Amino acid sequence: AFELEKTMSERGKDLSVLEPTRLGPGNCAYVRQQEPLGLGHAIWCARAIVGDEPFAIFLPDEFMHGSPGCMKQMVDAYNQVGGNLISVLEVPRDQVSSYGVIAPGARDGSLTEVKGLVEKPSVADAPSNLIISGRYILQPEVMRVLEGQEKGAGGEIQLTDAMATMIGTQPFHAVTFDGARYDCGSKAGYIQANLAVALQRPDIAAEVRAFAVDLLK
Ligand code: G1P
Repeated sequence: AFELEKTMSERGKDLSVLEPTRLGPGNCAYVRQQEPLGLGHAIWCARAIVGDEPFAIFLPDEFMHGSPGCMKQMVDAYNQVGGNLISVLEVPRDQVSSYGVIAPGARDGSLTEVKGLVEKPSVADAPSNLIISGRYILQPEVMRVLEGQEKGAGGEIQLTDAMATMIGTQPFHAVTFDGARYDCGSKAGYIQANLAVALQRPDIAAEVRAFAVDLLK
């Protein structure tokens, strides 16, 4: 935010906290999804930028908090098994219909083989309570699948359906993230994320804790 940063600098504010977040020239490119046809379509809109390489997807309403971060844990797993990787976590069974759900195969530590994928199944039809939690490392072939992908759950072109087609043709694993996850697509989840992070920050933890304790009296 150039104007904001310039004004703040001129007023003597310290903006050094922003420095590590600055991208180098040419390191950021945008595409627009002109029609809301679904997550799969949104990803497909980036096909020219992705080209013929594996790529990562972050759904930013899923806030993953841990060290190392979720994607770092996935990249480490990718360096061992390659192919396609999704982050997963367990949710109470009655929540599965809000998510993509995996049919799990063999498990080895934090890695689980993915045998099947269903987007927003009914509770009765869900193959497990392991849901896709918004981080992916995918092979570029998924773009070709998305090209012809029919609409699925909610009348949208679903990334989950395209990924499901690739199972069996390429390695497909789920990584159980070692850390905390907050669904910031829900109002309560967003508040929980803010509170949890605030309580871990040495500069504000004491003040926030005192406030919360006071509220709960
Ligand atoms: C999307 C994905 C779903 C995934 C979820 C995670 O759903 O389609 O598979 O489990 O994100 O938040 P959406 O939140 O767009 O309905």
